[in-house]
Amino acid sequence: MKLFIDSANLDHIKEMNDLGILSGVTTNPTLMAKEGKDVNQTLIQIAEMVDGPISGEVISVDAKGMIEEGKKIAKLHPNMIVKIPMTEAGMQATKALTELGIKTNVTLIFSLPQALLACTAGATFISPFVGRLDDIGTDGIELIESIRDMIDVYGFDSEIISASIRHNEHIKASINAGAHIATVPYEVLKKAFKHPLTDTGLENFLKDYQKVYG
Ligand code: G3P
Repeated sequence: MKLFIDSANLDHIKEMNDLGILSGVTTNPTLMAKEGKDVNQTLIQIAEMVDGPISGEVISVDAKGMIEEGKKIAKLHPNMIVKIPMTEAGMQATKALTELGIKTNVTLIFSLPQALLACTAGATFISPFVGRLDDIGTDGIELIESIRDMIDVYGFDSEIISASIRHNEHIKASINAGAHIATVPYEVLKKAFKHPLTDTGLENFLKDYQKVYG
């Protein structure tokens, strides 16, 4: 499973990219608003930094607007992916952009039928929101498993981006459920490096070495 960072913060993206663990970046309007900078400039800076798919989300709600915005996002950099919400207008835009050779990421997916619709419309990536499903007392990871089965059985080309990841267990479960990618917030990625046995193990290796070699 590949790791993307779910962020529009250039410092956080750079830090994780320098560690060699990133295969792409996803943003959304909330993450962009959190940074408060020029959206297109931010997307270009991210795309110049990270060598992989970079999702920039449309804010139009009608198909025509989404298609126009999508064309502009795609022109920002060859690695740009147009992120489109899972609505009727969104599927119309996904179909139209796919026909133009523009890659898409259908977001806000919360059910297997929604995933089927997005795959059928030609989405390059589909983003089921694991954490938000857990928040309402359902099993987000179960949805990832079902979508992966559907993709394999019916031969869709779309890749699953396991999104709305809240903790290490979500990363582990996404791998086991067959997600192609997980997009992970900076704070969760930082914690993924850590394990108490790694810390004590390293401490003991160095202590043992110093006892003999000084
Ligand atoms: O970027 C989409 C998704 O990852 C959002 O996550 O934490 O706002 O539910 P969250």
